[in-house]
Amino acid sequence: MIAPVMYFPTRIPIFGQSNSAEQADVGSVIKTKDPETCNVAHGTHHYRGLRLSLWATLLLCLGACGSSDGDDGLGFRQSSQFPFQTLSEFDFFAGDIAELAPRDGVVPYQVTSPLWADHAGKARFIVVPQGEFIEPMGDEDWMYPSGTIIIKNFFYSRDRSRPEDSIEPIETRLMIKENDDWVGHTYVWNASLTDAVRKVAGARVELDFLDEDGTPKSQQYVVPNTNQCKDCHERHEESRPLGLVARQLDRMVIRNQQNVSQIDYLNAAGIFKTPLQRGFDGHLVDPFGAASVAERARSYLDSNCAHCHRDGGNGGPSGLVLLASETNPTAFGICKGPVAAGKATGGFYHDILPGEPDKSIMVHRMKSADPEVKMPEIPNRLPHDAGVALISEWIRGMSPQSCD
Ligand code: HEC
Ligand code: HEC
Repeated sequence: MIAPVMYFPTRIPIFGQSNSAEQADVGSVIKTKDPETCNVAHGTHHYRGLRLSLWATLLLCLGACGSSDGDDGLGFRQSSQFPFQTLSEFDFFAGDIAELAPRDGVVPYQVTSPLWADHAGKARFIVVPQGEFIEPMGDEDWMYPSGTIIIKNFFYSRDRSRPEDSIEPIETRLMIKENDDWVGHTYVWNASLTDAVRKVAGARVELDFLDEDGTPKSQQYVVPNTNQCKDCHERHEESRPLGLVARQLDRMVIRNQQNVSQIDYLNAAGIFKTPLQRGFDGHLVDPFGAASVAERARSYLDSNCAHCHRDGGNGGPSGLVLLASETNPTAFGICKGPVAAGKATGGFYHDILPGEPDKSIMVHRMKSADPEVKMPEIPNRLPHDAGVALISEWIRGMSPQSCD
């Protein structure tokens, strides 16, 4: 149990942490709340029912708005009562909860290289108790005050031919800092999308959707149980946030319809004790963007695999280190023999055989849906075709070596 902390007893225009209006000037990028944009972004009048406003909130006006419906911001939550049994009790979102329009103090962020999650999209936010700050120290493992909450919403499109206007939330995961520990919780949305209910034992949700050609399809979406959070989030026996690292956050984002540095945006939101630096050296590239194939592949492996494949992680003992910053080619798989023999190798001898994706254990395991073979090793993930194609292209482009 955490000692009670207060979250935002008064409305704060955009700068999450501060109660004083003067603070509104600290933001060089997002100067003021723009009521016009906010109405569009929240869209409760214009877009209700279409769920377009969720998309608009994500893309156009994310978080720069705060609640414009006259409610107080996220008010007087008592952290000693956490976790609530329903998501609505946290009061993170204003108006129609399914539109995920963040209240003041609920700060949105985006990562450059997201984790593949069976076609689900994500919307992420962070909430820091009033008067407290995160101390960012270098790339990762920052110091967070007790009571910090990180929110990750998973949503999917009912109609993949018009993804923007058929979005529905399906699961919302929270990590709550309780004194020294991060504790994971997950909430599954009800069918009418009026709230989400806490699940401890996980769940399987049948998703019906129309594919790009309009064919009705269904897919099973797996909500992990809360013990499985540790499989990925724990390193050296301590749970940690994985996406809130400088290398993931150092990117451009659209806020208030302007293209701005996310680092500037987060600094202006007042959640850090000392400002986060821009131009971070090891920042990740968009895996499906314009950078070189090697950079994109390393970025993909960093976010999808390195939480396990690094020292102290779940896959650490395999010796395969998939952090983008790893400079030793053998450590990141080139000509590396597998630690465990057997079926999972597919009869191949190296994690990466340069020039030969189809003889590389890495690709073999990413392609597989077999629980004894597949990577990531978490249950019921669909192989990620675009990820497999990217890693294959990277390996194919390497100068052949015999690896003997
Ligand atoms: C397969 C590995 C994996 C599992 C299992 C997993 N996560 Fe995560 N999670 C990640 C990665 C990687 C990120 C960062 C990238 C992103 O946000 O897409 C992340 C991000 C998050 C975030 C946003 C804060 C952060 O760490 O950056 C929350 C909140 C979260 N996870 C909660 C949970 C909870 C709760 C569970 C268990 C119910 C869980 N996760 C299970 C891999 C996992
Ligand atoms: C949830 C933790 C986890 C995630 C995420 C994960 N792995 Fe693994 N991985 C393991 C563990 C544990 C092993 C060792 C046991 C085994 O071989 O099954 C392993 C082994 C491997 C091996 C064999 C390595 C060797 O040299 O012995 C390869 C290749 C591999 N993983 C690739 C990947 C790739 C690529 C990804 C991301 C797309 C990934 N893994 C994501 C846990 C994980």
